[in-house]
Amino acid sequence: MTFKQRVFSGVQPNGNLHLGNYLGAVVKFVELQTNYDCIYCVVDLHAITVWQDPKELPRTIREVTAAFIASGIDPKQHIVFNQSQVAEHAELAWIFNCVARLGWLNRMTQFKEKAGKDRERASVGLYAYPNLMAADILVYRATHVPVGDDQKQHLELSRDIAQKFNNDFGESIRAHGFGDAFFPQPEPLIQGPATRVMSLRDGTKKMSKSDPSDQSRINLTDDADTIALKVRRAKTDPEPLPSEVTGLEARPEADNLVGIYAALAGQAKADTLTEFGGAQFSTFKAALTDLLVAKLSPITAEMRRLVADPIYVDSVLADGSARAQVIAADTMKAVKDIVGFIRR
Ligand code: TYM
Repeated sequence: MTFKQRVFSGVQPNGNLHLGNYLGAVVKFVELQTNYDCIYCVVDLHAITVWQDPKELPRTIREVTAAFIASGIDPKQHIVFNQSQVAEHAELAWIFNCVARLGWLNRMTQFKEKAGKDRERASVGLYAYPNLMAADILVYRATHVPVGDDQKQHLELSRDIAQKFNNDFGESIRAHGFGDAFFPQPEPLIQGPATRVMSLRDGTKKMSKSDPSDQSRINLTDDADTIALKVRRAKTDPEPLPSEVTGLEARPEADNLVGIYAALAGQAKADTLTEFGGAQFSTFKAALTDLLVAKLSPITAEMRRLVADPIYVDSVLADGSARAQVIAADTMKAVKDIVGFIRR
């Protein structure tokens, strides 16, 4: 069975977008536009699995949308929208709640991390979150999913759900003329030198929106002075930079900063080390700051401009949602037939 190639990915509107989101995901979103039809989603239904202030949520949804556009995603050529405007995501997620097994969800490390010790008080949504994520992708029967390394396990679950649906309903899928498989096995695209950007304060911890220390991350809204200060304060070790990639082993902070530089420069870590091998961190940090400011300031400025124009941003989301829904509704019709529901 061959499926039309299509890219889908999502970003949560749950706080400040940071360099990890940008290098691990958004940069890839931009690149993939050349060769694929792409759908990029602001996943607001996912965000409310933990409490979001209703007064703040519209702003964060618009901010992620602005970051997409400011980074170079073309919302006319491709689709940019917010998840809650396409009800089919939630509808397919329910069906996947009945396909996925408790044992599968119990293995999800992100739930364990996010729920923390007091698991009884976590929302049911946080637990079922990976099923909604599978629905996001599969409601468009997307074949490729660019994400950071932390989403790998969720992507594997999406593949398991697709496969189990195809197996469980195999006879019905064939009877309705969809061949041997209705859903593709979505392929994760996790590539390059910055698939896991780490905290600037601790090279063993992921850079994250939820880290209480703002010094741990570079936000897409940070100005040049803030970036310079955060890089200057970033944790390092006393040795100069190595000349070979193997020299970064057991040096998590050095590895992280070199990975960030390489990703921003569009090169491999080895190339960065050819240039900076033997240099002190003071020299390297100055070059890294210049590169960060050069790459991020135009995006930050454009984001600011877009966020100040909510009417335009909302029109992008409305247009994208309408176009996404056409595809999603088509999938849901087929899914209802396959499952055996009666529909209008
Ligand atoms: P979210 O909103 O936490 O993160 C958005 C994207 O940024 C990547 N990312 C990172 N990459 C490198 N280093 C980091 N420190 C880092 N932190 C975050 C994430 O891997 C992600 O690609 N569950 C998803 C959103 C989602 C989704 C989907 C993604 C919902 N439905 C369907 C793909 C397909 C999430 O919470 O991402």
